[in-house]
Amino acid sequence: MKTLKIPEATIIRLSVYSRHLTDVDRKGIITTSSGDIAEGVGVSPAQVRKDLAYFGEFGTRGVGYNVKDLRQHILRILGLSVDWSVCLVGAGNLGLALSTYKGFRERGFIITSIFDSDPAKVGTMIGDVKVLPLEQLEEVGKQNRTQIGIVAVPASAAQEIVDQLIKIGVKAILNFAPVVLNVPAQIELRNVDLAVNLEVLTFNVGAQRF
Ligand code: NAI
Repeated sequence: MKTLKIPEATIIRLSVYSRHLTDVDRKGIITTSSGDIAEGVGVSPAQVRKDLAYFGEFGTRGVGYNVKDLRQHILRILGLSVDWSVCLVGAGNLGLALSTYKGFRERGFIITSIFDSDPAKVGTMIGDVKVLPLEQLEEVGKQNRTQIGIVAVPASAAQEIVDQLIKIGVKAILNFAPVVLNVPAQIELRNVDLAVNLEVLTFNVGAQRF
């Protein structure tokens, strides 16, 4: 496997390819081609081949790709051939939506614990997970070998939560709070801001008028 720096756009497309291949596999289709994948996800066949080429040779010339094998390869590349233990902090509107989304579990992201500081929420069930008080984050988080933390608390509480998550050994954090967080270099931090995406949309729509 090449050790080139893989563009983030390629990683994002791999995720899209893998979801497409899951659908194709469910339909019982055995082989596919870069052309089929490209058509299925709306990119060019050359782009599909280029993205896959970062990770070595797949498929057989003239025959194409075995759907199951290619899907497995991509899942392995994305680190999704194993389950990930995820902890969610903040069981508010967003936390509830995230923790009841079935797609995470299907992709191997298992929400093993949920924490909130509101006594009215502590003890309630979200799906089959009980909302726990923040004081139990260290003990339960370690017990569950938590690898990924999702932060869905108000901005004012986010840094403190992130510090606690790092303390229990979390390697990656998905932050929804609208605040700049400080984390050590070895921690993978992604900030999600839907408003920014909406602003990109409105900019693009607006730009068509100029
Ligand atoms: P919410 O007020 O419904 O929920 C926040 C939850 O966090 C509450 O249950 C509260 O008890 C809990 N909480 C507060 N302080 C805490 C602490 N120190 N430890 C543990 N739990 C604590 O708010 P909502 O709508 O769910 O939003 C949550 C966060 O996500 C906010 O920061 C909001 O700005 C952000 N957000 C981000 C979006 C995005 O696109 N990135 C979209 C929607 C919300």
